[in-house]
Formats: sequence, C-alpha cells, structure tokens
Amino acid sequence: MGAFNILNLTLPLLAFVATVPINGASARRPKPSSSAEQTYYPPAANCIEYMIPVSVAPPVIQFAFPKWTDDYALTDFLTVATTRQTSNTQSPIVNTAITPATYSIAASFCSPKTLSAKSKTVLLAIHGIGQARSHWNSPHNPNEYNFVQHAISQGYSVFFYDRLGQGSSQKISGYVNQINIHVEILKELSKIVRSGEYTGVIGKPEKLALMGFSFGSYITHAAVGTSPEIADAVVLTAIGLNGTGINANGLVRSFVPRIAMLQDEKFEDWDDGYLTWVDKFAQINTYFKRPFYDAETADFAEAAKQPFGFVEFYTFPLGNGGNYDASNFTSPALAITGKQDYIVCDGECEGIFEEPARTFYKNAKPFVPYLHPNASHNINFHHNATGAYRVITDFLTEHLK
Ligand SMILES: *[C@@H]1O[C@H](CO)[C@@H](O)[C@H](O)[C@H]1NC(C)=O
Ligand SMILES: *[C@@H]1O[C@H](CO)[C@@H](O)[C@H](O)[C@H]1NC(C)=O
Ligand SMILES: *[C@@H]1O[C@H](CO)[C@@H](O)[C@H](O)[C@H]1NC(C)=O
Ligand SMILES: *[C@@H]1O[C@H](CO)[C@@H](O)[C@H](O)[C@H]1NC(C)=O
Repeated sequence: MGAFNILNLTLPLLAFVATVPINGASARRPKPSSSAEQTYYPPAANCIEYMIPVSVAPPVIQFAFPKWTDDYALTDFLTVATTRQTSNTQSPIVNTAITPATYSIAASFCSPKTLSAKSKTVLLAIHGIGQARSHWNSPHNPNEYNFVQHAISQGYSVFFYDRLGQGSSQKISGYVNQINIHVEILKELSKIVRSGEYTGVIGKPEKLALMGFSFGSYITHAAVGTSPEIADAVVLTAIGLNGTGINANGLVRSFVPRIAMLQDEKFEDWDDGYLTWVDKFAQINTYFKRPFYDAETADFAEAAKQPFGFVEFYTFPLGNGGNYDASNFTSPALAITGKQDYIVCDGECEGIFEEPARTFYKNAKPFVPYLHPNASHNINFHHNATGAYRVITDFLTEHLK
C-alpha cells in the first residue's frame, strides 16, 4: 500500500474460508417500487428517480476471511485482527478475478426549476459509510444540512446515487462488496450521466464534477487517478491521504462493529457480512465533535444509517491496488474535511492534511486543500454545514468554467 498504509489488518492464518457467490444466492434484487424513496425534495428543484442498469467488469479481490454468524465470532475476529502482531502473518487475499456483472443502481437527479447556464454543470455525488444518498439530501432540517438544496440554490444540478449494496440499489454479499466494484460503477456512471439519458430536462451535461464523502471520496480518488477524463473537477469531502492520520486499530475499536441484521430487523436484507456500529455514541465518537452538532441531528444520522460491508471497510485503502497517484488528473481538485476529523486525521488534521495529497494531485489546476473549522468527519451534519457547502460551490464557480 506504499505511503498510504492504512489498514494494517494482516491476519493470522485463518482456520476456515468463506466462499461467497457474487451473483448467486446471496445477491438480492431491489424491490421494484423502491427507487422513489426520497422523503424530501428541495422546493426549488425538479427531481427524478431512476433505477439504472450498470454493466462493469471489475477486478474483484477474494479474501480468506472467516464467515461469522454471531457477534461472538465477529468480536473474536476483530480482537485477533487488532492484536499486536507477534508472528508471521499471511495476507488474507486469495485471488483477484475479473468479474463481469450488471448491477441495478438507484439514483436521483435534481436540477433547478429556474435553469441557468450553470444548471448544465452536474455534480455526481457518491456517499460514504453511514447514510445512503440521503447524505446529500437531508430531510432533517434541510435549510441547515441539505447539500442538494444548497447546490440548487447556486444554480447547479446534482446526480446522487445509492452505492451498490445501499439504500434502494441492488445488494450483494458484505463478504464481496468492495472498492474495486464501486470504482468501476462510478466510472461507468460518469459516462452514463454524460450521455444525457438520466439528466432530465437539462439533456447532456456540459461539465461533470465528481464529489465523494469519506469512503465515497476514496472511490472517487481511485477512479479519477486512473481515468482522469471522467471528470472536469473533483471534490473530495472527508478524505485524508496521510497515513499518520489513520489509526486503523483505533477505528475498529471505536466503531465497535456488530452484525447489522442482528442489531435491527430493518437490516434483515443484508447478509452477516454487513456490520454496523454498536450504538449512536459510536457514531458520535467517530463522525461528530461536540459542541458543533446537536443531539437531534446525531439521532437522525443514526436512524438513517445503513450497514457497511466488512470487505468494503477492509478495501477502502486498496483502490487502484493502493496506488494513490492522481498526477494524470489536470482539472480542478478540492479536498475538504473537518479540522477535527476523527476518522481520517485521528482527531486533528492540522499539519497532516496537505501532504501527500498535494503531491498526488500535483498536476491538478488547481489543487486546493481546505480544513473546515469546528467539525469532525461528517461535515454535512455539523452546525456550520452550509459554510462547508459554500466552500465547495465557490470552488466550482471559480475554477470550473
Ligand atoms: C498516467 O498516464 C501515463 C501515460 O498514459 C500512464 O503510463 C500512467 O500509468 C498513468 N498513471 C496512472 C496512475 O494511471
Ligand atoms: C504526513 O504529514 C507529515 C506531517 O506534516 C509529513 O511529515 C509527512 O511527510 C506526510 N506524509 C507524506 C507521505 O507525505
Ligand atoms: C470555530 O473555529 C474558529 C476557527 O478555527 C475558532 O476561532 C473558533 O474558536 C471556533 N469556535 C468554537 C466555538 O470553538
Ligand atoms: C463556517 O464555515 C466557514 C467555511 O469553512 C468558515 O469560514 C467559518 O469560519 C465557519 N464559521 C464558524 C462559526 O465556524
């Protein structure tokens, strides 16, 4: 993983191996009517729901992780994974195989009711671990937290989708779902969005900016690093590229993962490879910083949370095989997170945010690193979220012409 050595979870020899079919019995189809599930739409926007078939052939990594069926087994697996290494360990990677598939992806497209020249600039947004696409389109206190509403007020259009395995998109096993699949889906979706087929009245976009949150930003970064032509600009929120800021064992311990389907029956559609943190305080510990959020908002974020696949979590530093060079990307790039980001900066980003990000983006015109004050990782749900949104849309207005 080179300079970015995030998850050093090398595991002792594992006693038993899970084999999980990718499109076999464990793959679940989305419910047909479930794409129109957004509970709120910004009043100044026209929004359309789509279910989009996306065909990809990603290099899928297969792992020798054991399959756990209860929280005793999961907890012991995590205990072993975070234990001080005292003997030779073996990589859990068994094989990598090109795995073609067509996935159903649920997406929303919103454009301003009053169109302007900017409305043909589309922000293609991919959420992280936590909420699915409502991350960008909060029904909770939208004047303060809804990114789509802010972007619409600035004249932009937004295409935002549920990652594979989340929200209304198709589900696959949590022992399989991983960054390599997400990267290929994002690359394909950026072509699909550019084609104009899923962008309502605006037709073919003139400009496309890719925007991620957290895991979604690592996916976006991996995609533009290898296929820079897919985006005219990139906005990476809640990303950190300096390994000093990533305390992998600390994160596993503060997330306190549990098998999602055993925590709440609303998660029964996800197999036991999908986890979730134990309670809202584990989310607050990792995503929020007191006193810059309110309890009702954290409650909303907890109620709206989705499970994450263990292999998604494990592979988030493995995009492009761990090669983080994005020097072929020559368009504008913004990296922004909360100054007190606990997840990617171990609680304090000052001093470790700019490098090596600036080196990875050395040919971006320009590369702008920005630390948003008074917030931890989830900048969208702290008090001054609209301050961060303004940094993002001002950046696009200034550099994406
Ligand atoms: C950047 O482009 C060059 C020339 O096409 C290519 O050799 C190199 O592999 C690319 N870098 C990445 C990270 O894809
Ligand atoms: C991470 O940040 C530290 C502190 O600024 C710096 O010394 C180090 O070189 C950075 N790491 C990389 C890989 O750039
Ligand atoms: C918010 O951030 C600013 C800039 O870093 C700082 O001066 C101010 O003290 C912070 N506000 C609070 C309430 O901590
Ligand atoms: C709100 O966010 C903006 C953009 O980061 C920042 O300039 C401003 O100081 C913030 N205000 C407070 C009170 O934190």
